Parts: sequence; C-alpha cells; structure tokens
Amino acid sequence: MTTLRQSYSSFPPAGCEVDALNCDNLAKFEIVKLLNLFPVKHVIETGTFKGYTTEFFAGLFEEKEAVSIHTIESNKEYYDKAVDKFKNTNVSCHFGNSPELIKEILSSIKSEDNIFFYLDAHNWGERTPICNELSEIGNHAKNLAIIVIDDCLVPNFPDLGHDPFIEFKEFQWCFEHVYPDGYFHYYNRRSGHPLGRGTGKMFVIPLKYYNKLPKDSIVSYSEL
Ligand SMILES: C[S@@+](CC[C@H](N)C(=O)[O-])C[C@H]1O[C@@H](n2cnc3c(N)ncnc32)[C@H](O)[C@@H]1O
Repeated sequence: MTTLRQSYSSFPPAGCEVDALNCDNLAKFEIVKLLNLFPVKHVIETGTFKGYTTEFFAGLFEEKEAVSIHTIESNKEYYDKAVDKFKNTNVSCHFGNSPELIKEILSSIKSEDNIFFYLDAHNWGERTPICNELSEIGNHAKNLAIIVIDDCLVPNFPDLGHDPFIEFKEFQWCFEHVYPDGYFHYYNRRSGHPLGRGTGKMFVIPLKYYNKLPKDSIVSYSEL
C-alpha cells in the first residue's frame, strides 16, 4: 500500500507559465484524488518534455521506493536533460516511441496492481500515438489502468485548450481493449490555471471503481 504525501509544495505561483499539468491546480487535485482512491505502485507518463509533470509525480508519494515513476520521451534533447534532472530519484527515463516503451515497461512490471498513466506524448497538431499506447496497455494490463489524457477536446467546453487530434471519438474503440469489463470516463470543465489558460483533460477508470468516486468533484460525470 502506498500513501501520498499530505502536503506537497509544487503548486505554482500566480502568473505561472510553465509547471506540472500546465499549471492547473484543479487537475492536480483531481489526480491526487484518484491516486488516493486507487493506490498505485507504478506511474507511467508519455511525453516527458521538460519533466515538469514528472517532477510532480515524483514528489507525490510518501515512500518513494514503493512507487516507480516512468517517463517516456522521443526527443533526444529533452530525454538527455530529463536523465540529468532525475538522476538519483525514483524516476526512470526512457527514450523512444511511447507505445513500444509502454510495452517494454509493462512486460517488466508483471503487476496485478493498478497502474496510473498520464498520456501526454504528442506533437501539437500531428497524429498522436494514443491508440497504439492504449493497445499496449490493453495487451499487458487489462482493467488495471487509471488513465489521464491531456490536451483533449472536452465536449461542450471547447475553450479548454486541446490538440485537434485528441478527441474521445477518435480513440473510443481502443478503450474496449484496455477495459473488457467496462470503464468510466469524465473530463475537467474548467481550468485551474492561475491565468485561465488550461487544457482539456480526460480521466478514465475501470468501471468497477465507479462507485468509489465522490460525486462532489470538479468534473462532469456525463458519460457512462
Ligand atoms: C505536451 S509535451 C509533454 C509535456 C509534459 N508531459 C509535461 O506535462 O510537462 C509532449 C512531448 O511528447 C513528446 N512526444 C511526441 N511524440 C512522442 C512519442 N511518440 N513518444 C514519446 N514522446 C513523444 C514530444 O517530444 C514532447 O516533448
């Protein structure tokens, strides 16, 4: 059993331009809530970039050695900087294409535990690897994944920033492979960015966990 730290100090100051989860405190709270409800031993992020969100995940857990944090990046320059940034931590940096590396990581984990995925590997406006990522997750970790997809179109809330290629209807069919027993997904409706510049985020849990979700959330439980 892993526990989250009661307090963590990575919340960004007002005017924040770059930080974990696009400076979005509401998204951070939502992720902390999910990790409290559904403890994990592994966190896998795709798309390291400068490691802002990786750092947030690495700082969340009370017993660092109990949780492995993996982050995957295909840009060598970002990867090299991340290796340097996360040396001597519980973060493992991986260089390459996210679906292949998800496969490699999951085949070494062989876990029956929940695994948290933060899927954020994309180059804005280009096709994303999300479906291939979901395919590998489904091959190795059925009904175990807690997934957050960043930069996603939120239905009825188009003002939340999103990559034009990241839309649930584009990869809905891929989820059936990950969750043969069903899943529940929901979105943020507003941004917790101090300047209001947030992005859409989709949260996905196995259906068996639905009843554990508190209903007083920031999110819209609109799709079941
Ligand atoms: C939006 S940024 C990630 C931001 C980071 N997760 C954060 O919260 O700070 C997207 C990153 O994904 C990387 N990327 C794009 N396609 C990828 C792929 N197929 N596999 C791994 N990384 C990829 C890009 O190089 C870029 O650094």
